[in-house]
Amino acid sequence: MANNEDLFKAIISHAKEYGFIFPSSEIYDGLSAVYDYGQYGVELKNNIKQYWWKAMVQYHENIVGIDSAIFMHPTIWKASGHVDAFNDPLIDNKDSKKRYRADVLIEDHIQKIEDKINKEVEKAKKRFENFDEALFRQTNPRVVENQKKIDDITAKYAELMQNNDLAGLKQLILDLEIACPISGTRNWTDVRQFNLMFSTQMGSVAEGADTIYLRPETAQGIFVNFLNVQKTGRMKIPFGIAQIGKAFRNEIVARQFIFRMREFEQMEMQFFVRPGEELKWFEYWKKERIEWHKSLGIDPENYRFHDHEKLAHYANAATDIEFKFPFGFKELEGIHSRTNYDLSRHEEFSGKKLRYFDPETNESYVPYVVETSIGVDRMFLAVFSNAYCEETLEDGSTRVVLRLPAQLAPVKAAVLPLVKKDGMPEKAREIMDILKPHYLCQYDEKDAIGRRYRRQDAIGTPYCITIDNQTMEDNTVTIRERDSMQQYRVAIDEIINKIR
Ligand code: GAP
Repeated sequence: MANNEDLFKAIISHAKEYGFIFPSSEIYDGLSAVYDYGQYGVELKNNIKQYWWKAMVQYHENIVGIDSAIFMHPTIWKASGHVDAFNDPLIDNKDSKKRYRADVLIEDHIQKIEDKINKEVEKAKKRFENFDEALFRQTNPRVVENQKKIDDITAKYAELMQNNDLAGLKQLILDLEIACPISGTRNWTDVRQFNLMFSTQMGSVAEGADTIYLRPETAQGIFVNFLNVQKTGRMKIPFGIAQIGKAFRNEIVARQFIFRMREFEQMEMQFFVRPGEELKWFEYWKKERIEWHKSLGIDPENYRFHDHEKLAHYANAATDIEFKFPFGFKELEGIHSRTNYDLSRHEEFSGKKLRYFDPETNESYVPYVVETSIGVDRMFLAVFSNAYCEETLEDGSTRVVLRLPAQLAPVKAAVLPLVKKDGMPEKAREIMDILKPHYLCQYDEKDAIGRRYRRQDAIGTPYCITIDNQTMEDNTVTIRERDSMQQYRVAIDEIINKIR
């Protein structure tokens, strides 16, 4: 693969060609930043959700799940701060008429400088034996100079964002000589704020009807149900409420495939704790969540934490788990210590007490909250892009294989009669009947066996079970493993154990 851009294009077209992800409304030329999941995509997505749900709800006795409505009382979004402050700074190029996020233009500029540094490091790595990367980064003049540039821009940028200084953001874009990628000019409008929430009207007549919002995060559905769950579930602090569901954001710059969508899914968990204990639990959840990612067997080098230096006014700690996507390290999951901000605001706006009586301390208080929040679609992209592999085999042929973690693979096993005669299809059907109640399996008798293997490799099926002449004699089959392509014989009775 020539470069990461080509790799990413190959991944997107593979996702479409093999029924994982289609552009939404494709026959009407699509709808920007909205995607549909196909027959294999929905299986992979469901498996990701189930893997998360099991880790959070099933394995933690003090976490329960809910499924709250997408539509919620509009005052919720006033209380949460989304009506007033859920904005992105946008800027238009007057020549191309294209709209951009001012912060993304600056971040992309920083990324370009980082790419230069990385190139320099890679070059040096190839040149020197016993290469000391840390020392090289500290001493190479070009790297040092570029790193200083990054630090200066980052500090300035963080200050401007923190102060909501829109004129300053425009000035920074001009100072960095950032040009529109389409027109190539620096003819920019002023920077304006743009609210990301989609709104609609509830009720059959617009006049007098309330404006309601499509939720931009699932978390608020958890906060407003905090007491319902605590009381009916007799939950004792510390405890958590988990939820998986759709969220909607009118992203200005929607790109990078399913990385940034306008309609997406989140898996969120709010963990309610005693005031003063939130930082201990923040550390606990950082560790738990990174372990969850690593349990999938993906190279740990692909993950890193990015602690937030500047915190939102309601948070006292925050970090992102970043993943190495084909376009670089980007946020995959957020872990935030949100203090008692949300529950206090809902107390204030609803006039209802949202307190917990702690029998151990004999105190009543508004609990503090540690949140873990991950996008299902982003997790899908992480797993899918990491699994995509183009290999050249010993005989010179190539194969495209999705090395998906077996527990997430859409189809767990393919059942393949070697030929369409001699009782083999019937035997294969018997095996399908044995496996069906346990795993999603696929029966395939069309084409030569090699081509059938390739089809299964391309959708990430971990095992191919082949029924051949010997099967008809001794009730054994061959199992071919996707990654090693090794084959071995197993008795039919043993197949389920083997797959498990
Ligand atoms: N309740 C906290 C919250 O919503 P966030 O950082 O805005 O925090 C959490 O979002 C996660 O949701 C992100 O880490 C990302 O995985 C996912 N996410 C956010 N915006 C997204 C978008 N436009 N498209 C896809 N996933 C998105």
